[in-house]
Amino acid sequence: MFTQTRSLFLAAIIAIFIYEYSSSEPLRFNFDLKHIDDNQRDELFRFLDINKDKKICETEFKNLFSSLFYSTRHKTSYKDDKIESMILELIAIPKEKGIDKTQFDIIWGEWIVTVLKPRSALIVVDVQNDFMIGSMPVENGTKIVPVINDLMKNFETVVFTYDWHPRNHCSFNESVHDPSIHRPIIDYYNKTRDTLTVGDRVRYAVHPDITQYLWDRHCVQESEGSQLYHELNQDHIKDKFNVTKGMDPDIDSYSAFADVGGIHNPERRTTLHCDLQSRGITDVYLTGVLYEFCVGSTALDALTLGYRTAFIEDAVHELNTTRQKEMRQNLTDNYSSIITADDVNDMVTAYDRRPQMGYVLAKKIWGTHNHPDPQCQ
Ligand SMILES: *[C@@H]1O[C@H](CO)[C@@H](O)[C@H](O)[C@H]1NC(C)=O
Ligand SMILES: *[C@@H]1O[C@H](CO)[C@@H](O)[C@H](O)[C@H]1NC(C)=O
Ligand SMILES: *[C@@H]1O[C@H](CO)[C@@H](O)[C@H](O)[C@H]1NC(C)=O
Ligand SMILES: *[C@@H]1O[C@H](CO)[C@@H](O)[C@H](O)[C@H]1NC(C)=O
Ligand SMILES: *[C@@H]1O[C@H](CO)[C@@H](O)[C@H](O)[C@H]1NC(C)=O
Ligand SMILES: *[C@@H]1O[C@H](CO)[C@@H](O)[C@H](O)[C@H]1NC(C)=O
Ligand SMILES: *[C@@H]1O[C@H](CO)[C@@H](O)[C@H](O)[C@H]1NC(C)=O
Repeated sequence: MFTQTRSLFLAAIIAIFIYEYSSSEPLRFNFDLKHIDDNQRDELFRFLDINKDKKICETEFKNLFSSLFYSTRHKTSYKDDKIESMILELIAIPKEKGIDKTQFDIIWGEWIVTVLKPRSALIVVDVQNDFMIGSMPVENGTKIVPVINDLMKNFETVVFTYDWHPRNHCSFNESVHDPSIHRPIIDYYNKTRDTLTVGDRVRYAVHPDITQYLWDRHCVQESEGSQLYHELNQDHIKDKFNVTKGMDPDIDSYSAFADVGGIHNPERRTTLHCDLQSRGITDVYLTGVLYEFCVGSTALDALTLGYRTAFIEDAVHELNTTRQKEMRQNLTDNYSSIITADDVNDMVTAYDRRPQMGYVLAKKIWGTHNHPDPQCQ
């Protein structure tokens, strides 16, 4: 009996010992990367240079990631082998030669500085009366407003986007039934002009490549329904600005960056990208309605333009859960960080640094772009 207890006890000690040593964290640099000075950076270079040849090769560089992609609150490194390999591929450290300290400093200046000191903006998408309490209210949509109000104190820059439609806009059910509006339809998706209603789709002759959903008339320019919902607290924001979208009567606009299909077309873009560029914004945080349309599309365009993008899921609301799930998949596929309001303070202050955010920036710096970036004055 006694020996059995003793051997169980010994086995437990051995198990704890093995656990401690096999699950220990990856090698981490001891200094707080956020506040590293030049001397410490020399020390970091020597720390990474394991074989002491004054060069850092790819496997040595990889050891930086456990310090770079780190959460101070949870005291853990983010591990994501796939993203780490994609970043290394983009940095393209020469196989034989590695990089010296000068080249390391260049990478530091181009990429790491932003990972450690991002400039963030909160984008509040379409929190307008019509979507909250007006002509097309989103069920439980107003529940996100206190969350957004609370979030604003983390940001110097806050953007309010507005759906801002002319009265005869192509997205309105009322427009297809108004005899004074002449906008030929080439595809009724099995309906007729008489039976078309909210939720149906059409294709118009003016933009045959675009499938248009029909909605109740909403957010008509200057109307009460188009104003920001009154419980949104806009006081005490240092730097706020508006972006209006959907002004072209013949084409809908979901993303706050451009009309449908327009991110690479200067004539379809809004002012948002240049407004963010002029402020040096590197990171955007998304809130508002609707998850599966305007907020999601804004996030996807932001990622295309190389903004590190965080989607604050508990500050966004959807209309249709099926489409919301599809959009969520598209967002994660395209390296949006999906987060909750609790994460925001740590991320904005860079005490929580996610690999996805690092990857999006690496792709912007070293990736090959199919389209030139939109030019701003
Ligand atoms: C709205 O909130 C109520 C109460 O929390 C909940 O029962 C209901 O399912 C919610 N509806 C939607 C569509 O989220
Ligand atoms: C669509 O518009 C027509 C004409 O204004 C109207 O009769 C119909 O009720 C509308 N559909 C909905 C769901 O409101
Ligand atoms: C239209 O109706 C036809 C025949 O009922 C059907 O085969 C087709 O899938 C429908 N198309 C759409 C877009 O609903
Ligand atoms: C834009 O911002 C200003 C100042 O914050 C505000 O008074 C105005 O109503 C906003 N709306 C639009 C659509 O410009
Ligand atoms: C939600 O979207 C799906 C997929 O587009 C569609 O099949 C379904 O009818 C929609 N549900 C509602 C309630 O509109
Ligand atoms: C998600 O992406 C797929 C493939 O690009 C596209 O067909 C689909 O419409 C997208 N869904 C949403 C909700 O954006
Ligand atoms: C998002 O990712 C999917 C899957 O990788 C891709 O097919 C799609 O084109 C992407 N969408 C955007 C808007 O970048």
